[in-house]
Amino acid sequence: MDFTGKVVLITGASAGIGASCALHFAKLSADLALVGRNVKNLNKIAEQCTKASGKEPLIIIADISVEENIARIIKETIDKYERLDVLVNNAGIVIMATFMDDIKNFDRLVATNIRGPYLLTQQAIPHLIESKGNVVNVSSIVSSVPIPAMMPYCMTKAALDMFTKCVALEVAPKGVRVNSVNPGPVNTELFKRAGFDEERNKGIFAMMAATMPLKKYAHGEDVAKLVAFLASDSASCITGSRYEVDCGLHLGTPVLDSKN
Ligand SMILES: NC(=O)c1ccc[n+]([C@@H]2O[C@H](COP(=O)([O-])OP(=O)(O)OC[C@H]3O[C@@H](n4cnc5c(N)ncnc54)[C@H](OP(=O)(O)O)[C@@H]3O)[C@@H](O)[C@H]2O)c1
Repeated sequence: MDFTGKVVLITGASAGIGASCALHFAKLSADLALVGRNVKNLNKIAEQCTKASGKEPLIIIADISVEENIARIIKETIDKYERLDVLVNNAGIVIMATFMDDIKNFDRLVATNIRGPYLLTQQAIPHLIESKGNVVNVSSIVSSVPIPAMMPYCMTKAALDMFTKCVALEVAPKGVRVNSVNPGPVNTELFKRAGFDEERNKGIFAMMAATMPLKKYAHGEDVAKLVAFLASDSASCITGSRYEVDCGLHLGTPVLDSKN
């Protein structure tokens, strides 16, 4: 797989899955535009990308939940590279909140997990039509596996899946593809940022690994490889699809097994 001459814009590239995507695309020789809020982390990841590819990524410090930043992200990318081939809508947050909790949780989640990708995709599409490029949305397995303890988060990811399908259908005649990857648990900063301390985070991931069909959880690189595949010409016939990368979590627990 080779992304030489292709421009890949990744949101949330300063940590976790987005950082893994940045590094993976760098190894595949892509020209990168990396978006995040934490300057120090973004610089650190950019340095690693430069080492991997010999090319310095464009760094864009921006909060995707702030509408004015969206046009700037696209402008800075086009100003530097004069094209856009791939948009990876990865930035996202989790808030541990249930249906009965403050609606402000829902508003915050919507602003980052839906409104940001919605607006960014809108503004990226004209450039993607020109390059016959594509979008990869980082959704989640919880878009279809309900978890009441994080119900508004689940809702935002379900919305992102439908966004993927509708936009895919709308832009398909223009030669643009739109897909999603739907990870299960990936050990990143996500749950720690949602308030879990180190020990609880470790405990939850250990418990999840033990109960998952494949008895493990995915790492950022596992998701990044799938994102790159969907963004590549190898996936030229794939659009509007969702790809689970969840160690089998979506399969659930068998009601009957051979011992019953
Ligand atoms: N980890 C999992 O188990 C898991 C499972 C399924 C789906 N996902 C999805 O994967 C994506 C990445 O999550 P992760 O696990 O890698 O989380 P993470 O380690 O917490 O990283 C999140 C990234 O998103 C960025 N970000 C968050 N809000 C932003 C905003 N408003 N504007 C710009 N950047 C923003 C962060 O940037 P700064 O640090 O610079 O602020 C950071 O780079 C999310 O969409 C998440 O829902 C994760």
